[in-house]
Amino acid sequence: QRPGHVSVIIVGATGDLAKKYLWQGFFQLYVNQVSSGNSFSFHGGGLSPADKATPVLFEALKAVSCSQDVSPERCALLKEQFLRLSQYRQLKTLEDYQALAKHIEQQLQEEGMTEAGRLFYLSVPAFAYADIAEKINGSCRPSSGAWLRVVLEKPFGHDFRSAQVLASQLGSSLKDEEMYRIDHYLGKQVVSKILPFRIENRQFLDPIWNKHSIERIEIVVKETLDVKGRIPFYDQYGVIRDVLQNHLTEVMTLLTAKLPKNVSSTEEVLQNKLQIFSSLLPLGKNQAVIGQYQAYKSEVQQELNKTKDHISLTPTFAAVLAHIDETQYEGVPILLISGKMLDERVGYARILFKNDMFCLQKHNSVHCKPKQIVFYFGHGDLQYPAILVSKNLFKPALIDGDWKEVTEHKDVSVLGLSISDYYVQTPTEQREAYAELISHIFAGRKNSFISSENLLASWSLWTPLLSSLASSFPRIYPGGADNGALLDVRLKGNDISYSSEVLIISPEQMGG
Ligand code: BG6
Repeated sequence: QRPGHVSVIIVGATGDLAKKYLWQGFFQLYVNQVSSGNSFSFHGGGLSPADKATPVLFEALKAVSCSQDVSPERCALLKEQFLRLSQYRQLKTLEDYQALAKHIEQQLQEEGMTEAGRLFYLSVPAFAYADIAEKINGSCRPSSGAWLRVVLEKPFGHDFRSAQVLASQLGSSLKDEEMYRIDHYLGKQVVSKILPFRIENRQFLDPIWNKHSIERIEIVVKETLDVKGRIPFYDQYGVIRDVLQNHLTEVMTLLTAKLPKNVSSTEEVLQNKLQIFSSLLPLGKNQAVIGQYQAYKSEVQQELNKTKDHISLTPTFAAVLAHIDETQYEGVPILLISGKMLDERVGYARILFKNDMFCLQKHNSVHCKPKQIVFYFGHGDLQYPAILVSKNLFKPALIDGDWKEVTEHKDVSVLGLSISDYYVQTPTEQREAYAELISHIFAGRKNSFISSENLLASWSLWTPLLSSLASSFPRIYPGGADNGALLDVRLKGNDISYSSEVLIISPEQMGG
């Protein structure tokens, strides 16, 4: 792409997401690009008038920080420049968007720069997308030769039908290549390394990445927080739409998709992920367990102004069992689990291998420690993102050079193994998912974003299950530290005992 002036516009500039991650991510981008020949302007936009929102915006801007390799003096200078390039403006009416376009054009003239592109980040509720996209299309397209990129946050619809309607509304204002649908899990360092890890270790993995060796796959995001303060949103969505339909599904497709010949080929990566959706067996009611933490009911009554007898059926916990109908994975249980107010904060995907294939004979007795590969997203005991491979499985190749082997550990156990029983790799430098994805958007790289086919394929998997669960009562769980033992998940009448350490299911119990 040609260098020139880049205008970044965050719509919803003083919202939680923007304050927590987006401004930091754009500052990082600015720091990385400061000597690239591009010039920047940052526009915070929103419905509030400028006199009210400007101080809030500048609070957020002042809070950005530099990575460790930047000296304090240089960091102070960069922050000062970043602040000077940023301003708030009200973006409500078509005239507001026209005024923004005029402002950018004036700026280009004053600087004598050509335009490289305009990046709009819509950090607003999804119902506002179509209207904003129309205004951008009508009055804020960049000059010819420059790019337009519009970033959208989930939720992308509520079910298949609404996602389709939203896709077609957006499609009338924006071209597909101009839309970047974010799933921040795809920016998590460990998640972005799933495919490179599988490729680098092909030699070891090819013989065992199949139904003969894999006992089950688990993708788990357990949270300890409740959803207080977010009920008006959350009660309409629930955990399946909030986490399983997007984050966990994306991880599942990365773990099981056919490996691309070229990992940086967007087309191939997206096509192979899409292929998995067409092989997933439909999800029935008996493949899901839903729960709701006890206090949720009164939180709903309060935040939605309901009476004491109002009950909500929205699940705050779900465990779902999926299967891929392909010879390679036939019968392999894939468990997707997430919930609020659980016993610990932890997120991981793990491939658990059948034990007898890898048991070690030691002093006449057989040791069957778990044989597993764990992609640890970076919460819980370990606190850092890591890929862990049981030592009795194989020694993995280091990925990409920017991932290092960790040899010294604290004394923690991870999913049934002490950490010294694993080969561990972690990124040399930790980066926030949003900063990572913002750098991809700037580079125009789309393989870590959700294509419209992918989105609709995911909704067509989840919508029938959501409809069949719509009138089901979730199991009530107390919420908090006791829930490790509590979530004794029943699938098809068989117990999966769900403890904070390990999910124990025998293949016979799982059935098909
Ligand atoms: C968000 C959900 O998409 O992901 C939240 O809306 C959830 O409810 C969050 O807490 C989890 O993300 P992370 O990065 O904190 O694991």
